[in-house]
Amino acid sequence: MRRTYDTIVLGGGAIGCTVAWRLAQRAMRVLVLERGRIGGEASSAAAGMLGAQLEVGEPGPFYRLCVESRGMYPAFAQALLEDSGIDIQYVHNGILQVAHRAEEVDALRRELTWQTAEGARAEWIHAQDIPALEPDVSPGLGGLFLPDDGNVSAPLLMRALARAVHRRCDVREGAEVTAVSAESGRVDVRTVEETFSADHLVVAAGAWAGRFVADLGVNFFIRPVKGQLLAVRPRAGHGLTRTLHTHQVYLVPKRDGTIVVGATEEHGAGYNRDLTADAILRLLQGLRHAAPGLADAMFDRAWVGLRPGSPKGEPLLGPVPEHPNVHLAVGHFRNGILLSPVTGAILEASILGDPWPERWRPFTVAAWRDREAAVPLGAEKREAHPKMETTTTRGEEVRER
Ligand code: GLY
Repeated sequence: MRRTYDTIVLGGGAIGCTVAWRLAQRAMRVLVLERGRIGGEASSAAAGMLGAQLEVGEPGPFYRLCVESRGMYPAFAQALLEDSGIDIQYVHNGILQVAHRAEEVDALRRELTWQTAEGARAEWIHAQDIPALEPDVSPGLGGLFLPDDGNVSAPLLMRALARAVHRRCDVREGAEVTAVSAESGRVDVRTVEETFSADHLVVAAGAWAGRFVADLGVNFFIRPVKGQLLAVRPRAGHGLTRTLHTHQVYLVPKRDGTIVVGATEEHGAGYNRDLTADAILRLLQGLRHAAPGLADAMFDRAWVGLRPGSPKGEPLLGPVPEHPNVHLAVGHFRNGILLSPVTGAILEASILGDPWPERWRPFTVAAWRDREAAVPLGAEKREAHPKMETTTTRGEEVRER
């Protein structure tokens, strides 16, 4: 017999699980369909930075969305602790960006100016003051400290969300979706084994969302952007008290004593998951350059995540005009962990028909189409992080799985 739900969520990453969890708390019957394991992809691979001020290069709606979501984290972490019993290790310890080149000083000073004008806290730290803050760090030419950015443990966030959705929703792992149809106010989702129906569908399929978005007639290009990361364990008496960012790496100290060193941004690698010697070498060189005091840290492990790359690196959120019962939560690129709480709130409002504040409209399909029509073809191409080195992977195209 065909099973029916209020909402089906495609994708069991941080975004899909947060949306499902919120809807279930509003008494909806929710099914999560995940092609692999809950949290088995980019969400658990993330370094877990809550870099609202770090990650955004200019003022505007995206910056404000990131700040809004960061502000939701203390309550989100507490609610998850109460529902799952798991502490996601939210820390509010700031991010220090150190400049090693004159042009980076100029860029960070511009950032200081606009972020302060936006009402955020940001502080210039002179090079001579850095050793007192972070003895293992190279002071470079000084840096910008963002005290309100922080981090969580992404693997623990996913364990907490997994436990919460398993308690409150139906969950199918290993469920490969073969067809979706959305007609006359209802959606049918076919997997290899079963067909499910619901009043609403949420597409939250991370780097795999492109196919669903294209099938819905939405011209929003999503593709995987590979990230390689590693972790080290500092020797006794060494470490960092806050996240450090340079043009080569970020170093995120975790409550388990390790430091996550990230991340490559590899465009054109498709769904390839190889750990490469070249990338690991560059991350380790970046670590040694940024924090010479950590150069003899012990190597812990290395791994790969596939970010859902999107135009400008910004997400697309809310209903598809031609199919008002189909809702998108896609294209979060580098900021899926950071944007999970606000995405949950936006999708909840979208599905339950709650009023939408004006500040969320720039991320709707309708607003995206208006912008696309207004901007000359190819002008909105930026996807890479403006502050870090990126690569385009060499070699033949890697096939989608
Ligand atoms: N948010 C950091 C990254 O995607 O590497």
